[in-house]
Amino acid sequence: MELQQLKKFRAWFDDYVAGFYGDDEFINANLKLKEDHTRRTCEEMLHLSKALCLSDEQIRLAQVIALFHDIGRFEQFVKYLTYYDPQSVNHCLLGLEVLRHTKVFDEVDETERQWIEKAIEYHGLKELPPDLKGDCLLLSKLIRDADKIDALYVMTDCYQNTPKIRKAMSWKLSFRMSRCIRPRCLMHFWLAGG
Ligand SMILES: [Fe+2]
Repeated sequence: MELQQLKKFRAWFDDYVAGFYGDDEFINANLKLKEDHTRRTCEEMLHLSKALCLSDEQIRLAQVIALFHDIGRFEQFVKYLTYYDPQSVNHCLLGLEVLRHTKVFDEVDETERQWIEKAIEYHGLKELPPDLKGDCLLLSKLIRDADKIDALYVMTDCYQNTPKIRKAMSWKLSFRMSRCIRPRCLMHFWLAGG
């Protein structure tokens, strides 16, 4: 994938997301949460990709996956007023529907498109399917990690800065998130989905 294509996708994302904002402040605020999450996930993905010394080609693919991994969230919230999949729709599959319906990946190489779509489809699963291999497996693992790293950031930020939420969550979390991260906590976030 060329850099020019990645730039085109970033512009497409901006236009697509902008189309969901309207007069409702509640909806706008929730859309902004996911928009900001996506941008931070792209940054996390870039950080992870560089730390792993991936090729420029792999880094660009990883960026596209991070950019589009939650593309279904916008339609999900506007339609159902929730990000809770069990009470609305599987946001990963909805994301794939959006991408196919809008034909945004029509010019992407077939193999790369499949890697991107699989990484998006699987990013919310508790476990990856066992048959993934090579770059497809690598990219699928990367988005799950980048997504969860930001989910952890959101939760700790919320926990530290919102006394009401801190109180409500305290019965669930048996540790002080502001000072330490324990495996049990990580498991909680990993299982919760991004
Ligand atoms: Fe996400």
